[in-house]
Amino acid sequence: MKFLVIPFLAVYMFALTEDSSFITKYEYGQMLYENPRGIGCIKCHGKNGRGEIIASYKDRKDDKLITKTIIAPDITKISLNDFKNVLNVKRSESLVMPTYFLTDEEIESIHYYISNKDNK
Ligand code: HEC
Repeated sequence: MKFLVIPFLAVYMFALTEDSSFITKYEYGQMLYENPRGIGCIKCHGKNGRGEIIASYKDRKDDKLITKTIIAPDITKISLNDFKNVLNVKRSESLVMPTYFLTDEEIESIHYYISNKDNK
């Protein structure tokens, strides 16, 4: 029995040191992007983070009806620093995007995922 257990243990320990987390940073980022504590980023910024029109509506300007849109911007080419600033700031100033309470590690993972998505 001992002879079986030892090689198993060795393989298991090797696997542990190779990648100590069960999911990769990319997968973790994807999970958070789709489901951060709160409404998913994916709902507004779209599946690939390329931005989307969230809503369009008619408004009156000089007695004419015009179409206005609310757009969630492309977030695939934003630096990590700007990304952190946007997500750490209390968003009472924004009328659309909610305030999140994410740790730096979580923000980094989302940033990593959304910036590398096209290369996969
Ligand atoms: C309800 C829709 C909505 C959700 C959900 C949302 N956003 Fe946004 N986001 C916006 C809008 C709209 C803007 C444009 C600026 C503003 O109004 O605040 C924006 C701006 C940004 C920006 C700045 C882009 C720039 O060009 O400066 C980043 C980065 C960002 N969002 C990341 C995220 C991440 C990451 C999540 C999820 C944790 C998320 N957003 C969830 C609507 C949303």
